[in-house]
Amino acid sequence: MDVTAIIMAAGQGTRMKSNHAKVSHKILGKPMIRWVVDAAIASGAGRVVVVVGSHSDEVRAILADAYSGEHAAAIECVEQTERLGTGHAVRVALEAAGIDAGPVVVLNGDLPLIQASTIRSFAETVADGSHAAAVLTFTPPEPFGYGRIQLAADGSVERIVEQKDCTPEQAAQLLECNAGCYAFDGALLAAHIGEVTCDNAQSEYYLPDMVEILKSHGHAVTISHCNDYRDGLGVNSRMQLAEVTDIARGRINDRLMTEGVTFIDPAQAWIGPDAQIGRDTVVWPQTHLIGRCHVGEDCQLGPNTRLTDTVAGDRCVIDETVAVEAVLADDVECGPRAYLRPGTHMLDGSKAGTHVEIKKSTIGKGSKVPHLSYIGDTQMGAGVNVGAGSITCNYDGKNKHATTIGDRTFIGSDTMMVAPVNIGADAITGASSCITHDVPAGALAIERSDQRIVKHYTELRRARL
Ligand code: UD1
Ligand code: CA
Repeated sequence: MDVTAIIMAAGQGTRMKSNHAKVSHKILGKPMIRWVVDAAIASGAGRVVVVVGSHSDEVRAILADAYSGEHAAAIECVEQTERLGTGHAVRVALEAAGIDAGPVVVLNGDLPLIQASTIRSFAETVADGSHAAAVLTFTPPEPFGYGRIQLAADGSVERIVEQKDCTPEQAAQLLECNAGCYAFDGALLAAHIGEVTCDNAQSEYYLPDMVEILKSHGHAVTISHCNDYRDGLGVNSRMQLAEVTDIARGRINDRLMTEGVTFIDPAQAWIGPDAQIGRDTVVWPQTHLIGRCHVGEDCQLGPNTRLTDTVAGDRCVIDETVAVEAVLADDVECGPRAYLRPGTHMLDGSKAGTHVEIKKSTIGKGSKVPHLSYIGDTQMGAGVNVGAGSITCNYDGKNKHATTIGDRTFIGSDTMMVAPVNIGADAITGASSCITHDVPAGALAIERSDQRIVKHYTELRRARL
């Protein structure tokens, strides 16, 4: 089955009151449009045509950034310069992408919780030739704003009435709604899309009018009711964005608990859809996993931890930590209050402790940076101990420079390592030293003035005051 998906994402999203495209708003760290595109890809659609318009540069950039390889090749954007409604969006897509055959699934771009399996079964409904179209329906607790399904006497769908075109009776009585997920026979869709008019309350070309149009030509149209209403929720407002986020969070956390992850309070953990967590890991409150995070088994995550595109092995303790594009091996300890920036690589058993910031550096096996340090552009060997308050001075105001620290080195507290500088294996730096020259292996480097003693100083001072 060679399915084409059209995702409509050109609308302004006026009700969001935003300076951004509606579909670029994030749900658990992932832009809304990507939830829908991912569902379309997972359903097996070979071609995904995204209709962009309002803030199209932003939407195109999100897609270009997120998809590479075969997925990038499957996704194409079509510009809808004038936003004349969903019927118009589909017409533009069909014409620009040259679609006139095969099963075509059309999805609202603001339908983030749609499941890949639903999209697939929809495509099958039209692929076997028995139906010209299928519409996903659902019965939300609050039907206001949705197109309502009007049934014919025989129980089949007759037409879809938009909220703004409903009589008060229709608004009160027709509670089954259009979810914004459709499957069409591509040839019939292309043949008849031109018949959609804008003769309605909003003067827009409504895609749902295709139901009546296809039926008027004698074609069969079916509806499929979605048992879990949450799958069909659309996002038009910030309230709906929050509601959908809450549902997505609950679903992800439930799945992870089924897979053996403990949550101290699942209502207080925001784990993105693309994150993986191994069994027996404990997620403490206020933990966020954004993007492609992979955390191993038996770890402690949080409280108050935010990981973005970060990988951690097994048995790591990641307490009050912010990490972005960091890689942690096994038995790594971070925080409380650690900040691991892109390019941080913590090897087995290493530690980044309290108020420690690390950037673009490798911390070797078993090496410890326990307190109040900044380590940047550094290659650190194994078994190193970095004393409290030590930093690499990697930036001269113009360029960044590298530091290397050999195995088993002992960096005394408050050492300033002025890069570029190399500290050999088994070397020691004296506390409070400013290291500006390379230190040979096994040597002591000490740079500080001798201590003076002024005897009876307090007594003398008191006499003076
Ligand atoms: C639409 C349906 C409604 C359904 C609801 C489900 C129509 C006319 N109505 O209403 O029956 O119950 O979705 O959530 O389709 N878009 C474009 N170009 C346009 C207009 C819209 O690409 O010219 C895109 C939007 O970006 C959005 C999607 O189409 O992603 C749906 O548009 P929206 O304005 O949100 O439609 P609803 O009023 O929610
Ligand atoms: Ca909508």
